[in-house]
Amino acid sequence: MCGIFAYYGEKKNAPHLVIEGLKNLEYRGYDSWGIAYKNGGDIIVHKEVGKIGDINAKDLALGESSVAMAHSRWATHGGVTKANAHPHFSEHNEIVLIHNGIFENYQEIKKDLIKKGHKFLSQTDTEVLAHLIEQHSRKHSFEESVKMAVKEIEGRYAIVVMKKDEDKVIAARKGSPLIIGVGKEHGEYFIASDIPAFLAQTNKVIYLDDNQICVIGNKKINFYDNATNEEIKKRIIEIDWDVESAEKGEFAHFMIKEIMEQKDTLNRAINQDPKNIELVAKAIEEAESTYFVGCGTAGKVAMVGAYLFAKISKKQIHFVFGSEFQNYKDFINKKTLLVCISQSGETADTLEAMEIAKEKGAKIASIVNVENSSIARHSDIVIPIKAGPEKAVASTKATTSQLAILTLLAYACDGGVEIGKQLLIRTASQINDMLNPRYADHIKKIATKIKDIESMYIIGRGANFPIALEAAIKLQEVSYIHAEGFAGGELKHGPIALISKNTPVIALVANDDCRKEILSNAQEVKARGGYIIGVAPTNEEVFDFWIRVPDVGATSPIVNIIPVQILAYQLAVLRQNDPDKPRNLAKSVTVK
Ligand code: G6P
Repeated sequence: MCGIFAYYGEKKNAPHLVIEGLKNLEYRGYDSWGIAYKNGGDIIVHKEVGKIGDINAKDLALGESSVAMAHSRWATHGGVTKANAHPHFSEHNEIVLIHNGIFENYQEIKKDLIKKGHKFLSQTDTEVLAHLIEQHSRKHSFEESVKMAVKEIEGRYAIVVMKKDEDKVIAARKGSPLIIGVGKEHGEYFIASDIPAFLAQTNKVIYLDDNQICVIGNKKINFYDNATNEEIKKRIIEIDWDVESAEKGEFAHFMIKEIMEQKDTLNRAINQDPKNIELVAKAIEEAESTYFVGCGTAGKVAMVGAYLFAKISKKQIHFVFGSEFQNYKDFINKKTLLVCISQSGETADTLEAMEIAKEKGAKIASIVNVENSSIARHSDIVIPIKAGPEKAVASTKATTSQLAILTLLAYACDGGVEIGKQLLIRTASQINDMLNPRYADHIKKIATKIKDIESMYIIGRGANFPIALEAAIKLQEVSYIHAEGFAGGELKHGPIALISKNTPVIALVANDDCRKEILSNAQEVKARGGYIIGVAPTNEEVFDFWIRVPDVGATSPIVNIIPVQILAYQLAVLRQNDPDKPRNLAKSVTVK
């Protein structure tokens, strides 16, 4: 949700550098973008509506500078306009600021500033903070003014600020990610919402934590605790990501690259340090109650997890979407375990669930892709899924890796972690065989047939019911076709009224105790004219079109979602949508 990238150092091409680096963060938001840089005694700002990925920095006639900041926006307050794009200036253009997050009390502050004579040019909450800092700077130093202003604002944010006549860049965070890259040259620093922005420049990073402020100036960097004003020491961490894994390579889009990577990513999830799995399994055994929490795709994975535990380890697990967790707070105590599932480890609603549970003394485990993310750093136990950077907005490889970890955990809680591991290894090898160009071509036939339809439905039972919900999300996100998932048994209680001649319905079938019933549900649809696309290990009479998946028992949710990921991708391409950057969405949702 909004990408931030700033540079401070000796390089003279900072404006180009931040634009190019920011392109790697475009997955965070892409409705408009902007840049600010120091030039002589001035701050130059350039903003545009549209995607930064479409921009060639060389065409912009940017001046030289060794200090610059850039931002790509995902609109929250105020429409998608040039005026609302960041960076935002203060009243007298002295302060310039970029921001990710939401200031919840910006209206009160704005009213007060208007009384003091401030005039605003945008509808954003961000502009208010720029003005507030300038207001304070009339009596205080730049650094003090930022510290005072961030104490007054409520909400979640990551900000980077510059002042016209100061050789300083200041950054602060609460709830939204901000990472410092330590450059190779003395006194060179990068500030970004995510590592890929500066990965080509450095792999040395410092994670800014909530309520911390970082002041870069005079070739030095200092960190402060914003509550106590005390200076703090931060650790430099070397990360082992490589630039290639964050690039598209020979693939047309990240989404298809990441779908194909599932050949390897599953193995990486399964063959990791068994200690993490044992620790979380033990915590689940010891807890009086366990909640699996996630949002979006990770929320559907959490729901699958509850089914896997019911079936495999005969254990009841509660499943809740991050945004709904507060409704359960009265049941949370020291004997509760919260398992947060998140690709990015930065999703605001999941973080909030974690904060609520922590306050009640609950233990926190997390299953994350981005190691060292906020969720990972604040968890008691972390299971990294090791899927590597996932850049397409629609989650694919992270999903199956999360499902693999939950399967391992369910077996571990049943005392049979090795059985689970062997099953997953077999599944990964069958996926390896399945993911070939012929398979994708077969799915393309059905994509071509249905590409102009208005609505489609997906049905599943048991652990494949949440997979039907996830399948619907995948189709909605990138094809923009109206898609909905249902539990097979629920069809007759309402949704079947939506079926008419040739309505496509995907039936997710596994060779398990739900098989006969889901096939009966498919029959019910077919009897009303529906066109049945079966995702199943064997071809069934009721199918009009069959997509074969391996017969893998308890890991059927993993194999059943993959053909739908491919179908969604192909529909997006056929309908000329950008599958990597679907409209209105962002990959990392750091606002509530
Ligand atoms: C956004 C993304 C989804 C993702 C969800 C949760 O909505 O577009 O793909 O599933 O956030 O993200 P997380 O990083 O917590 O898994």
